[in-house]
Amino acid sequence: MAILTILDPIKKEITLASEIKKFMNERGIIFEQWHTEHPLNDSDSQETILKAYNHELAPYMKNHGYINADVINVHKETPNIEAIRSKFLSEHTHAEDEVRFFVDGEGQFFFNLADRGEVIRLLCQKGDFISVPKGCPHWFDLAPKYHVKAIRIFQTPEGWVANYTQSGTEKKYINE
Ligand SMILES: [Fe+2]
Repeated sequence: MAILTILDPIKKEITLASEIKKFMNERGIIFEQWHTEHPLNDSDSQETILKAYNHELAPYMKNHGYINADVINVHKETPNIEAIRSKFLSEHTHAEDEVRFFVDGEGQFFFNLADRGEVIRLLCQKGDFISVPKGCPHWFDLAPKYHVKAIRIFQTPEGWVANYTQSGTEKKYINE
């Protein structure tokens, strides 16, 4: 179950899924909660995880022009976990929408919604589905749990390359 924290301009926490959905959708970010009935293990292969949720993802992929899917599966014993964390920890954008379906564990998305003067954090957990629109500045933190399994889907192999904004905004919120 997700937790939304508005960090700026006024700190506020929203835990009710319907309110989170409304808040995110108003800002062009799709947020939904999907069924996650399959128990998964850290040792499960990408194929096992994709197969378990193909019935949920296949219709969405078909309807929205997605061609590839993979899985980010990290836990505390994953080698080079801090290097993996640091890849997503600086504010960046993508040339296509960033879609994640969290099927185990959790991770924190941060969004810099400069046109509204807002910085928000969305803790995503099992069952949370999110689509971040292309060009929306954001960053993602594996901490503090360092345990997440999320399915990623792509419209093009190049689309998920991170274009770093170099704004440094993330540094202001590192201890939030
Ligand atoms: Fe991203």
